[in-house]
Amino acid sequence: MSIVLIGYMGSGKSSVGKKLSEMVNFKFIDLDDYIEEKEKLSIAQIFETKGEIYFRKKEHLYLQEVLELRDTILSLGGGTPCYGSNMDTILKAEGAHSVYLKSSIPNLVRRLNPEKAQRPLIAHLKSDEELTEFIGKHLFERSFYYNQSNQTVVTDGKNIETIAEEIVANLF
Ligand code: S3P
Repeated sequence: MSIVLIGYMGSGKSSVGKKLSEMVNFKFIDLDDYIEEKEKLSIAQIFETKGEIYFRKKEHLYLQEVLELRDTILSLGGGTPCYGSNMDTILKAEGAHSVYLKSSIPNLVRRLNPEKAQRPLIAHLKSDEELTEFIGKHLFERSFYYNQSNQTVVTDGKNIETIAEEIVANLF
């Protein structure tokens, strides 16, 4: 079995994933880290030198690879479920339980603001207002995919441990 964490950038997929991996003793895989290792470039460098289309093709390819693994906690990129047939692939993957970590726009803005520069999709946004407007629109488009997940956990006002416990309680 594998637990697949889905959600917008800054929703806590990696932190919750690491906590879950300790709790259930499954291996933790972050798809962004996996892509960086395979491509020998950082995500920001891939976007910069090869472009987003190249990144999305590789993301699709490596998603299929990691979904083959068993007993894993898989943290996806914020855009992963939203391109090509990725969400269908996730939903059809054998033994995969997908969880949408749902965070409010103000919480996403608060968490993403200090890390904007390292994130190619939002690095160009200057003010808090611009970031809020961008996330609002982007999340609206992406929610169609995120909402197809097997489970949704609202993250607002909860710590990492509580979120991980909610996921485990629903499964085991
Ligand atoms: C992206 C999210 C990032 C990374 C890439 C694109 C997106 O992952 O895959 O920068 O399209 O939302 P995180 O959600 O892990 O930051």
